[in-house]
Amino acid sequence: MDKLIVRGQKRLCGEVSISGAKNAAVAVIPAAIMANGVSVIENLPGIEDVSCLCHTIEKIGGKYEYIDKHTLRIDATGPLETCATFEEVQRMRASYYFLGALLARYKKAEVALPGGCNFGVRPIDLHLKGFRALGATVIEGDGVVKAYADKLVGTSIYMDQVSVGATINIMLAAAMAEGVTTIENAAKEPHVVDTANYLNMMGAKIKGAGTDVIRIHGVKELHGAQYAIIPDQIEAGTYMIAAAITGGDVLVKNIIPKHMDSLTAKLDEMNVSIEEHDDSIRVCADQALHCANVKTMSYPGFPTDLQPQIVALLSCCEGKSVITENVWDNRFQYVDELRKLGAKVEVDGRVATIQGTEQLHGAKVKATDLRAGAAMVLAALAAEGETEIDGVKYIDRGYEDIEHKLGNLGAEIRREPIEE
Ligand code: EPZ
Repeated sequence: MDKLIVRGQKRLCGEVSISGAKNAAVAVIPAAIMANGVSVIENLPGIEDVSCLCHTIEKIGGKYEYIDKHTLRIDATGPLETCATFEEVQRMRASYYFLGALLARYKKAEVALPGGCNFGVRPIDLHLKGFRALGATVIEGDGVVKAYADKLVGTSIYMDQVSVGATINIMLAAAMAEGVTTIENAAKEPHVVDTANYLNMMGAKIKGAGTDVIRIHGVKELHGAQYAIIPDQIEAGTYMIAAAITGGDVLVKNIIPKHMDSLTAKLDEMNVSIEEHDDSIRVCADQALHCANVKTMSYPGFPTDLQPQIVALLSCCEGKSVITENVWDNRFQYVDELRKLGAKVEVDGRVATIQGTEQLHGAKVKATDLRAGAAMVLAALAAEGETEIDGVKYIDRGYEDIEHKLGNLGAEIRREPIEE
């Protein structure tokens, strides 16, 4: 296990290149096993979740090899096992995409229930409801989900609530069902669109991804495809906030600016200057920042995965800010750690009230999950003195090379092993 040591109050300046989107990668890689052939996936982030999924593919009989650090060749020439209940599967939530992928190709799947972050209950009832609507029998028990069907038949599915994972998982299963499936009240996140685009490159017939209604004409089989995944909206937002919280001037490159609109608008409201270019955004915070209120919503609203990070920023802005977390039941657990750095945050259920403070100060803190860990790093960058952040394994799940990317921008940050 490692820790990060950060000496704060260094203005970040320069350029940072954003890696491929974690939440697209963790859907596209399982989707690759739907083809009886080879896919080449480019622009993958070099993160733990990607390697974990590769091990799962290998254990069910597929093959993978890294063509380079960010490009994977996945050979899913069958037959593959349809049972994935080993340790790698239990380690991450996105393993549930193997349910939709295996059910699509083999009409049967057995997958261990996901682990994932610790911010509240993370049910998958909407995923299973979608599979049942397509005609599958789904049995849950002993931490494993079993699903099977003589055939999957397209139908109309109205999502009780907007769910990224359920939208993608149902799309996977419906891609090889008989007939047409309509998913209404679908999630519109960029990684939903990215997964649909990859499936269409494999021969699927999916229309409407990115809107509330996705229409899928099922096909009998899919072939491998070459595909480059989109840049990571959340990593990009994290570095935009890093520039703002240090009063820096940073060009965030290799992004899709449109995906950043909700954060761009919020930073503009906070008196941060933003320059948009074709595939980059320049963030310059040379004025005093204003406080602001934030409500997290499904895309295109303000992303919940940037909520801890914007709370760290607002903790450094004079005045009172109110954050409402509308997606997850309990996504303020990290606030206790933020308070150790001097942040003044009061939490009441899904609402956090921040009293911006003059100066955060260094302390020993821990990452309680992936994005909370990123928030600790951001607060440490602004804090006076040295901060030690434990639980870096969480941060490594979603941020490639974080200490080098920040170091190249002028941050004083280093990784150290924790003595056992
Ligand atoms: C995805 O999780 C992301 N993870 C999460 O990012 C992100 O926070 C979330 O979408 C929302 O944008 C991946 O893509 C791997 P949901 P997911 O289904 O799909 C409820 C990160 O930091 N719900 O959109 O699991 C659920 O409890 C991670 O990268 C059900 O009730 O999220 C939540 O309140 C953290 N039943 C809401 O819907 C279900 O069957 C949205 O969840 C599914 C979800």
